Amino acid sequence: MSRILLIGATGGVGHRLLPRLIAAGHEVTALHRKPEQAAELRAAGATPLQGDLMAMGAPEMTAAAKGHHVIVFSAGAAGSGLERTAEIDGQGPLKMIAAAKASGIARVYLVSAMPEAGRGKDPNPNFEFYMKTKKEADAALVASDLDWVILRPGTLLHEEEGGGVRLSPAIPYGSVKRGTVAAVLARLIDTPQIRREIFELTDGETPVAEAVAALVR
Ligand SMILES: NC(=O)c1ccc[n+]([C@@H]2O[C@H](COP(=O)([O-])OP(=O)(O)OC[C@H]3O[C@@H](n4cnc5c(N)ncnc54)[C@H](OP(=O)(O)O)[C@@H]3O)[C@@H](O)[C@H]2O)c1
Repeated sequence: MSRILLIGATGGVGHRLLPRLIAAGHEVTALHRKPEQAAELRAAGATPLQGDLMAMGAPEMTAAAKGHHVIVFSAGAAGSGLERTAEIDGQGPLKMIAAAKASGIARVYLVSAMPEAGRGKDPNPNFEFYMKTKKEADAALVASDLDWVILRPGTLLHEEEGGGVRLSPAIPYGSVKRGTVAAVLARLIDTPQIRREIFELTDGETPVAEAVAALVR
């Protein structure tokens, strides 16, 4: 059993990951920004913790992280503007890194994005900024001495898990069900020997358990 801080617990990936972590026997603290989200998170078996990433600094994140073994970051600004992208997708992971270091937490999981996203489409400055921000967050985490895992899914679909995955350090671009991202994250978290690795993820043919087992060196 691990005590896990889940940042982005109410998101498309996060709300699918939460019950998996609970079912696996973990204790989950679910960070959420709106008071009305607390009851549903508690009903799902988590301990809700209210906090807005736009307002939290590293000290507040450190206070939230205290006492946990693992931090999962699956929050995102979801294209809601440059300032929010910079703060949530950019500064959010940096605050997580600082909080993990200050709290003696080694294991952190970051949901990033495949760098090929948007290739072949008309350039969009907001999207370019988002991808640059995601990459900078990845680079900061890789430069840390934490036991990080970075997961880079392709385009996310609002669907439950199903149909297998393609999962490795480099794969062709594609889409992936949010439920499948949650399933992969849950399995990675329960395979702690996998650490300091970046993986790309799309829907595919291999069952999740088999795909994650194949990543163990
Ligand atoms: N969309 C794609 O195709 C795509 C592709 C690759 C990677 N990704 C990345 O995958 C990750 C998960 O995506 P998703 O679809 O699950 O995201 P999502 O549904 O938009 O969820 C985002 C989460 O972040 C939280 N959040 C947003 N602003 C916050 C704030 N100021 N303070 C605290 N929490 C805040 C949201 O809380 P609320 O419920 O309060 O909004 C929600 O829990 C993101 O990092 C995203 O960038 C997305």
